[in-house]
Amino acid sequence: MEKTPEELGTVVSTIDGPTTAYFSFVLKSDSVRKGQFVKVETEDGILIGSVSDITRANRYFERAESVAEYERNGSRVMESFPTTDWEYTIANCRALGLYNKENLLVRNLFPPAPGTKVLPIEIERLKGFLGLDEKGLNIGKLAAHDVESKISLNRLLQKHMAILAMSGTGKSYLASVLIEELLDRSRELGRPAVVVIDVHGEYTGFAERAGGYSDRTTVIDGKKIRIGMQAVSPQVLCDFMPEISGTAKRVLVGKLEALHKERKVKREPYGIEDVINSIESDPSIKDNIKGPLIGWLYSLKSQRIFGRSTYPTLKELAQPGKLAVIDLSDIDSMKKKQIIVAYFGRKLFRARKKEKVPPFLLLVEESHNFAPERGKGSDYFARPMITTIAREGRKFGASLCLISQRPVQLSTTALSQCNTHIIMRVTNPYDIDHIGETSEGIDKGMLSAITTLRTGEAMIVGEAANFPVFVKVRQRKSRKSTKGESIETIARKFEEMKEKKKQDVEAFL
Ligand SMILES: Nc1ncnc2c1ncn2[C@@H]1O[C@H](COP(=O)(O)OP(=O)(O)O)[C@@H](O)[C@H]1O
Ligand SMILES: [Mg+2]
Repeated sequence: MEKTPEELGTVVSTIDGPTTAYFSFVLKSDSVRKGQFVKVETEDGILIGSVSDITRANRYFERAESVAEYERNGSRVMESFPTTDWEYTIANCRALGLYNKENLLVRNLFPPAPGTKVLPIEIERLKGFLGLDEKGLNIGKLAAHDVESKISLNRLLQKHMAILAMSGTGKSYLASVLIEELLDRSRELGRPAVVVIDVHGEYTGFAERAGGYSDRTTVIDGKKIRIGMQAVSPQVLCDFMPEISGTAKRVLVGKLEALHKERKVKREPYGIEDVINSIESDPSIKDNIKGPLIGWLYSLKSQRIFGRSTYPTLKELAQPGKLAVIDLSDIDSMKKKQIIVAYFGRKLFRARKKEKVPPFLLLVEESHNFAPERGKGSDYFARPMITTIAREGRKFGASLCLISQRPVQLSTTALSQCNTHIIMRVTNPYDIDHIGETSEGIDKGMLSAITTLRTGEAMIVGEAANFPVFVKVRQRKSRKSTKGESIETIARKFEEMKEKKKQDVEAFL
């Protein structure tokens, strides 16, 4: 039979298949690649498969001892025999789903017959099959296809997402690409607000004029962040003083309420020092209560986070189609970072419930530090906020994107609510096992593929796509912050700068 140009190969019968879940085909065309989607027309309809791996074989080289023996005598098998005529290549495929005679996508319940032709899949069919959305977020191209992977915004954000991978594999880069896509959306398509908890100052580049996003970006310098005392309820303040005793708490609540009332009448703002003064100067409070209470308050004061007014305001944090980068890179105190993330995260969520702010996406870098699985609640103030949004956020249009290089340490409560996982390279066997357990729909073959992904390559599993897909993340348009640069780049720039300085001095002399 003559080979039609578009035919990829023919289903073969092997020791293990074809089955309803797997089939193999011998290649007629060398254009087949790992990760590629293919179709097979069967009796039941159109079966869609994806190539999980490809092997090449050649009878002439099957027996190692014969090859060794032959070549030992100075002859080459390749030169003496028509070996290339005997080479063949087999692609192993996962059978993913079947379009039945009514063109409905159903589970495949019968294996394709050996001898059936394997054909390339039409692009439109592939898009429909994966559940891509023309109006969605373009994060790159599908591996092995010249198709943009436009992920539906609803499907990606409605039920939260997580980006999980080792350091240096492109998590923050991908997050930046996602942010660009969100910022570039037109009003008609619906634009959520984007807030990033930026632990390393990697997203500040969005504010650079040359990047093209500066008009839509506000960088909030961590050192300038303040929580206005008036806006803080006694309960919230007590949450930040986990060691506080019941009695001390009652005293504090009383004092805060009195101060609040008094200053409201006078329309005078107050700070934490006013709270401290009012307690210190009250002789009716017993010393054994006063001492520790003042101590805790001083310790909070030393974080320099409570002030007379709040910065940033809700308006500065969340606007449709705008990005707020909370830059925590200059803050050393973990406690302070926890307070900031806990306070502003909760505030955003509350405001969202009352529809005071648009739907938002909160991206949390190093999320295992803010919502760890283990660790005392008194050290991790932000965890309840994150788990609450994880559990309840979707009803209100509050979405999370948890980014982590230590998924094992990330709260399982929070992670299990992230219905889309974008996984980049992971090689640590513990992390691989954990991902296998927590990400639905990943098989062994995919787990092993995760270990070999290259920087900028990702696998998307879960809600966002009907089937797991491999994607090559596109180039970013925004400016990369210099803070996120590699040591190589920083070292090179350092020397270049020194060199230039030297030249400048010489020129001057
Ligand atoms: N899709 C990509 N295209 C080009 N370069 C990339 C891509 N993804 C990552 N990189 C580069 O790889 C390096 C590490 O990426 P980064 O996002 O900082 O990793 P992570 O956040 O996982 O530690 C950066 O220098 C970045 O520019
Ligand atoms: Mg990063």
